[in-house]
Amino acid sequence: MPSYAIIGGSRGIGLEFVRQLALSGENTVFVTVRNKQKSTYLLDTASKLPHKNVHILEADVVDNQAIKNAAADVAKISGGSLDVLIYNAARLEFDNILRGLLDYESEEKLDEEFIQSSKVNVLGPIHTVNAFLPLLREGTTKKIVLIGSEGGERDFVRRVHLSETAVYGITKAAENMVATKYAAELENEGFTVVAVSPGFVDVSSTYSEPAPEGNIPKFNTIAKKFYGAFPKTRPLAPQEAVERLLVYIANIGPADSGSFKPSLEFDTSTQ
Ligand SMILES: NC(=O)c1ccc[n+]([C@@H]2O[C@H](COP(=O)([O-])OP(=O)(O)OC[C@H]3O[C@@H](n4cnc5c(N)ncnc54)[C@H](OP(=O)(O)O)[C@@H]3O)[C@@H](O)[C@H]2O)c1
Repeated sequence: MPSYAIIGGSRGIGLEFVRQLALSGENTVFVTVRNKQKSTYLLDTASKLPHKNVHILEADVVDNQAIKNAAADVAKISGGSLDVLIYNAARLEFDNILRGLLDYESEEKLDEEFIQSSKVNVLGPIHTVNAFLPLLREGTTKKIVLIGSEGGERDFVRRVHLSETAVYGITKAAENMVATKYAAELENEGFTVVAVSPGFVDVSSTYSEPAPEGNIPKFNTIAKKFYGAFPKTRPLAPQEAVERLLVYIANIGPADSGSFKPSLEFDTSTQ
């Protein structure tokens, strides 16, 4: 009975992880959300699944105690173990996500965005891994997967000339390093800790609010840069992205630990 915890699964890629994993009655799926009542896409999806194998827990990843409580709740249900931890949550809110480092109205606004993004994208995975580690040590696979991004990879950013999405990219770079640090920390215990990119995924069907019209010009600029650097790129549907990720997660082992895996479309070593 493999058990999975998806951290941040109310919508988008996290929701699709829950859906695909829960289709197998063999799996037990734990999913954390910030607000269960407002997680309407997840509640709707869960209500249509064939098995009663999804457990929805509330935890904001910036609240360390809430994450510890979620881990304690998982332990109560699972008997104290967890096989695979997938940290998916990220700060992606529309107001700031596309900005470059010169696009903030004030230093205070830039600092505030940096602090909030660091809490979700860097400290979030650290406190989550720490909270779930005792359970993972009792698990059968000892796999920790951080959903990373090419936006945090130097070669990608240089190739795309991606000045935009700056705070997101810098904090995702740090998140990739979080995986590498835990890989080193846990290598003598047989753990596999990786960061992996889902690719360019269209999650607009589960947005929590409509994307503001004002973002369209900047989004188009970024898309033009993407397609200029990677002409074969196309946005993936969440289903395809998560199918690929689950194959990758099933096949990784300690030899992969500490690595960042780019998506096929953005693999600079093959294009
Ligand atoms: N989509 C892409 O093209 C793409 C590309 C590269 C990497 N990624 C990575 O893939 C992951 C998922 O992205 P997505 O596109 O599916 O984004 P999304 O649709 O915006 O979903 C983000 C998820 O993170 C959760 N979250 C945000 N802040 C949180 C917090 N403080 N505590 C707990 N949960 C929080 C959100 O929950 P709420 O509903 O409560 O807001 C939501 O479930 C991210 O790590 C992202 O960096 C995505």
